Amino acid sequence: METAYFNGKFLPKDEIKISPDDRGFLFADGVYEVIRWYEGFFYDTNSHVTRLKRSLRELRINWPDADSFPTIATELIKVNKLENQPAMVYLQVTRGAARRTHYFPTPEVSPTSYAYAWSFEPESQLKETGIKVMLKEDIRWSRCDIKSVALLPNTMSFQEARENGLNECIFVRNGIITEGSHSNIFFVIDGTLFTHPESNDVLSGVTRKNILRIAQESGIKIREEALQENRIRFIQEAFITNTSLEVTPVIELGGNTLGDGIPGKVTRIIRDKFAIEIKALKG
Ligand code: PDD
Repeated sequence: METAYFNGKFLPKDEIKISPDDRGFLFADGVYEVIRWYEGFFYDTNSHVTRLKRSLRELRINWPDADSFPTIATELIKVNKLENQPAMVYLQVTRGAARRTHYFPTPEVSPTSYAYAWSFEPESQLKETGIKVMLKEDIRWSRCDIKSVALLPNTMSFQEARENGLNECIFVRNGIITEGSHSNIFFVIDGTLFTHPESNDVLSGVTRKNILRIAQESGIKIREEALQENRIRFIQEAFITNTSLEVTPVIELGGNTLGDGIPGKVTRIIRDKFAIEIKALKG
C-alpha cells in the first residue's frame, strides 16, 4: 500500500480525499516541486525549498511548512521502502478549498498540501546518444519563473513532441529560445556555454544553477544570454537539464542537426562532471 503525505499526515494514498472545491482543481491555483532521491540523499534540497518558498510568495499562498519539505520527502522514502532505489518525490501546495470565486477566499482557508514518492528508472541510453527536440512558439503565460501547476501549454507541447517521435519541445518567444516544456536548455557556440538568463520567461532550474557552477569550475566560458532562433546554424552543441534527466545532450533542434549529430565535447564534460558530483555525494 502506497503511503502519501496530505495536510500534515502520512496516509494510505487511496484514503486521501481532496475537495472538488479545491482551488488547485478549479483554477490550477497552486505550486509544486519535484526532487530526486539518489539512493541515500536528495540532490540540493536547499535550492528546491528556496524556489518553493518563492513560488508560494509570488502567488501569495501561506503555507508555513515549506522548510519541512526535505523531512516530509525523507519520510515518504522510508515509509514506502524506497531507500535503496532511485526515486522521485512530488509536492503540490494549493490555496485550499473554498466556493469558487475569482478573488482569494475570505476568510483565508488552509492550503492543501500533498506529496508522494515513486521509484523511477533513470534514463541512461538517451544521455549517451542524445535526443531530438522540436521548436514551437512559447504559448505559456508571462510568469514562467513561478513553478505553478498550471502546465497545460507544457503538457500539450510535450505531447506534440512525443507524437512526432521527439523527446522535448523547446519554446521560442518573440524569436528567442527560452526553455523546454519541462527542462532548461543550454547551447555551445565556439566553446562558450549559453543559456537563457533568469527571467519571467524561464523557470530557474535547480539543475541549471548547478550546471552553471560546474561549468564555471571546469573553466568553461559562460554567457547567460538568450539565443535567437535565427542563430541556430551557429550552435555546435546543446543539452537540456532537469531534476530527472540531469544533463541530456540534444543532437537535433527543430529539424537542424547540431554539430556532428552526436553529443558534443563540452556537453560530455559537463554531463560527466555532474555524474562524478553525484557519485561523490553517494560516498
Ligand atoms: N520540471 N523548466 C521547466 C518548465 C520545468 O518544468 C523544469 C522542471 C525545469 C528544470 O528545473 P529543475 O532543474 O529544477 O528540475 C525547467 C520538473 C522536473 C517537472 O515538471 O516534473
